[in-house]
Amino acid sequence: MEVQKCNMSDQYRGKVIVAPMVRVCTLPFRLLTVDYGTDLVYTEETVDYKMLRSIKRQNDVLGTVDFIDKSDGTVFFRTCERERSKVIFQIGTNDAQRALKVGKMVEPYVAGLDVNMGCPKEFSLKGGMGAALLTQPDKIKSILTTLVQGLTIPVTCKIRILDSLPETLELCKLIEECGVAAIGVHGRTRQERPRHPNHNDVIREIAKVLTIPVIANGGSREISRHDDIKKFQQDTGASSVMIARAAMWNCSILRPEGFLPLDTVIEQYLRYCIQYDNPFTYSKYTVQNMLRELQDTPRGKAFLETQTLQEISIIWGLEDYFKTQLAKQNEGRKSLNFEMSE
Ligand code: FNR
Repeated sequence: MEVQKCNMSDQYRGKVIVAPMVRVCTLPFRLLTVDYGTDLVYTEETVDYKMLRSIKRQNDVLGTVDFIDKSDGTVFFRTCERERSKVIFQIGTNDAQRALKVGKMVEPYVAGLDVNMGCPKEFSLKGGMGAALLTQPDKIKSILTTLVQGLTIPVTCKIRILDSLPETLELCKLIEECGVAAIGVHGRTRQERPRHPNHNDVIREIAKVLTIPVIANGGSREISRHDDIKKFQQDTGASSVMIARAAMWNCSILRPEGFLPLDTVIEQYLRYCIQYDNPFTYSKYTVQNMLRELQDTPRGKAFLETQTLQEISIIWGLEDYFKTQLAKQNEGRKSLNFEMSE
């Protein structure tokens, strides 16, 4: 058991990791991060009860496994073989048994399961999830130990720091005792916003007292090129670094060789969106976050007017690719229907 735990921690040691981001970290973005060299990439947070009302489908047209809403077909989680050894599924939960059921559902398809204990949004807090868990040690214990004992994949959680260092260290030790493989620490309190400085010193203290790998998060303001990732790791004394916004703005920051032009990144992202039928609103939201101030340019303004993925594709010269992929997908659907009706 101890050896197994040790091995499970290894995948979080000395790594560069892309953080969970709602609407951004769906399959197309995750595959792009894999292309650019990420070691691990988290999914967006999915709340347990959504997954529990989903059914699993092998999608032979796209070559994916989908967990979709039974009632309206909404995709909660789409994944494929290429990301299996790198994708960490993040769950929003406040209940050990529900969390375990979801863990069992995704276990064959992912490299790990992470519990979100840092989200400060009202929707999470009201549901007793995210950062609401930080002040409920018994709940934390019950969720994490149930997952660690019940799953064969590594279990981790992602927290925010508390108001004082002793409280934070106590929380981290309690989490470590639950047998998790690693802990992600966003160096801000629940009340602090992204504009506030990240408490790298607190992460450093946590890294000193824990034996499991600490994954430092919250450094995007100080990570503006690839080499800064290493600097952030050294400054926090953590084992690994997890980046969110810096990866969202230009995901090629992950490349040790350096940035690619933003247009290339957007084009490659859109190709995956088309190939994997990513929801239009998610694709647009992600491109908007990549464009940032470039939304004020004539092309940016044209982009803001778009209402379909096809319209976005035209702006990045992908109209032919869009049409070919759509035709391929329709053809695939037709032949599947034909096989099923035979
Ligand atoms: C987030 N964050 C987040 N955190 C989490 O645990 N689950 C989630 O689903 C999300 N979703 C999300 C969406 C978007 C658009 C952003 C920008 C952020 C928080 C994120 O993972 C990270 O903790 C913070 O952004 C701080 O890290 P950076 O940005 O300084 O690297």
